[in-house]
Amino acid sequence: MPHVYFIGAGPGDPEHLTLKGARLLAACATVFAPTPFEQTFTGLLGGKTVLSPFDFYFQQLLEKVETLRRQEDVAFLVPGDLTFYSPFQGLIDALGERAMVIPGVGTANAAAAYLKKTLDLPKICSRTVITSPRTLAETPHAPTLGQLAAPGVTLLIYMNHLPLAELVAQLRQGYGKSVPIAILHRLGLPGQEVVTGSFDDIVARVGERDFFGLADPAKRPALTLVITGESLDATIDGSWWDWRRENVWTFRND
Ligand SMILES: C[S@@+](CC[C@H](N)C(=O)[O-])C[C@H]1O[C@@H](n2cnc3c(N)ncnc32)[C@H](O)[C@@H]1O
Repeated sequence: MPHVYFIGAGPGDPEHLTLKGARLLAACATVFAPTPFEQTFTGLLGGKTVLSPFDFYFQQLLEKVETLRRQEDVAFLVPGDLTFYSPFQGLIDALGERAMVIPGVGTANAAAAYLKKTLDLPKICSRTVITSPRTLAETPHAPTLGQLAAPGVTLLIYMNHLPLAELVAQLRQGYGKSVPIAILHRLGLPGQEVVTGSFDDIVARVGERDFFGLADPAKRPALTLVITGESLDATIDGSWWDWRRENVWTFRND
């Protein structure tokens, strides 16, 4: 039975595609690629029919995919991957067993790699919260960003729609102090920019740049991820490694 493959494509750079994703993509003649993947993945899309999923209403898209799939495998390039904030869940649910999901490099993974930071650290950060002020605002009784922000928490903020100064004010309220913050714009894409700083200086460091697309009349979420928390500028020495070697990693019979 031909399948519909939802291939985690990473934040935009085809180098982030997994070997499995590349193999399945190569075997599909029709690929649904949201912008900007139809451009950044051109080297892997030659000779294929490339369609934009967002040109279709849901039912039309489902019917189109079903028609194509009766003859051969179909691929969707999923930005990042399905794990967080993916618009493809309804389609996957409707396709049931005909849908196959291929994991990929999420923006969070690419951001941590860019910053060279693990987002938790013993005694500094014990939990990571993935959130979006946009979805919090749309959800009745959801906590505020200020309630989610707290010492010991790393926050990954997707699809921000708040002006930076307002976002920082809410975060500062939760943390009760200035903590490090990183703004990662168009990671792995042409026009990539990353600005790091703290609540005290990030607004000045960003200046006039509209990383959140607030001036975009369509109000589409910009390709910008915000990460904040003490783990971003913390360093750790070898005692942590040695403690784990003594107490966690080394199995003793005595
Ligand atoms: C609908 S969500 C998709 C997330 C995706 N499923 C993932 O795992 O990365 C879109 C949001 O992801 C983040 N994002 C996606 N691609 C990005 C990129 N190349 N650089 C920075 N942030 C990105 C932005 O916060 C953007 O508003």
